[in-house]
Amino acid sequence: MSQGLSTTRTGRLYQQTIPQLGVGLLYNPSLELYLDACPGICDYVEIIPDMFWTDRGNLAPHRFEEIESWMKVLDKIAAQYPLTSHNISYSLGSAGIFDKSYLYKMKEWHERYRFKWHSDHLSFVKVHNEQQEEHNAGLAVPVPYDYEVLDMIGGRINAIKCSISTPFLVENNVYFIDLPEQELSETTFLNELSHDTSCGLLLDIHNVYTNAVNHHFDAKAFIAQLELDKVIEIHIAGGNEMAGMYTDSHAGPCPPEVWNLLDYTLPLVPNLCGITFEFHESYFHLLQFDGITRELNRAKAAWNLYHT
Ligand SMILES: [Fe+2]
Repeated sequence: MSQGLSTTRTGRLYQQTIPQLGVGLLYNPSLELYLDACPGICDYVEIIPDMFWTDRGNLAPHRFEEIESWMKVLDKIAAQYPLTSHNISYSLGSAGIFDKSYLYKMKEWHERYRFKWHSDHLSFVKVHNEQQEEHNAGLAVPVPYDYEVLDMIGGRINAIKCSISTPFLVENNVYFIDLPEQELSETTFLNELSHDTSCGLLLDIHNVYTNAVNHHFDAKAFIAQLELDKVIEIHIAGGNEMAGMYTDSHAGPCPPEVWNLLDYTLPLVPNLCGITFEFHESYFHLLQFDGITRELNRAKAAWNLYHT
């Protein structure tokens, strides 16, 4: 267990009590040595379960094969840190099918690793043809914000909650093309989804910042429109510019604007249980151990002002 913040304080999501963990890292392979070398700085580790197995597809007889060397690393981390799960393959917005065998695999992993909460994105990555064969879009595709999609995603979240009692959160997404004439705003969609399903919100502040830069809106006004007592987790990250757009590439340290938005948001989220720093392993050279510690300590200083 981390020597960091106390986990005796809790946040509340509808009827559920969730431990306030503090400041964590989204796991990537460049962190294996860091988590050993720098104990007591990171309070929890968030994992993407899909990284730890080979998925042969939804029609394969032995679909999931856990990767032995990766599982050893995961079991070692699980012995040292509380874990949360950040999923990519519930694929909540896939119109064709909801992947129940993935859900059953995750149910097994929740029993094994006792995740404090789990989450997925307001988007989809899986598409299916007429034979129900699965294809991967290769990125998180945003969904249209209308009532039909709201009902569909709500039904899927209810199915997840029926199988897995761990609190479930939905993360706001990045979009590079603004679909015209949508029935709902993104914030109304997220608020209604939370009401309909009792799910929590994972507020990715860097995603909000990315959309605000690319679509020219006020990031603070966007955040203020959310039902902030439903925010259980915050993501922070860095990005960079490419082809005239600002991207959510998780490129090293957080920009000053993200820290500013974090400072703005923290007094408004009474049930916050964790702030997770995300970076892609290919940008480790921009951080090194000192840089990771610097980002975590900056986040922890902000957390301590409101959540200790
Ligand atoms: Fe995120």
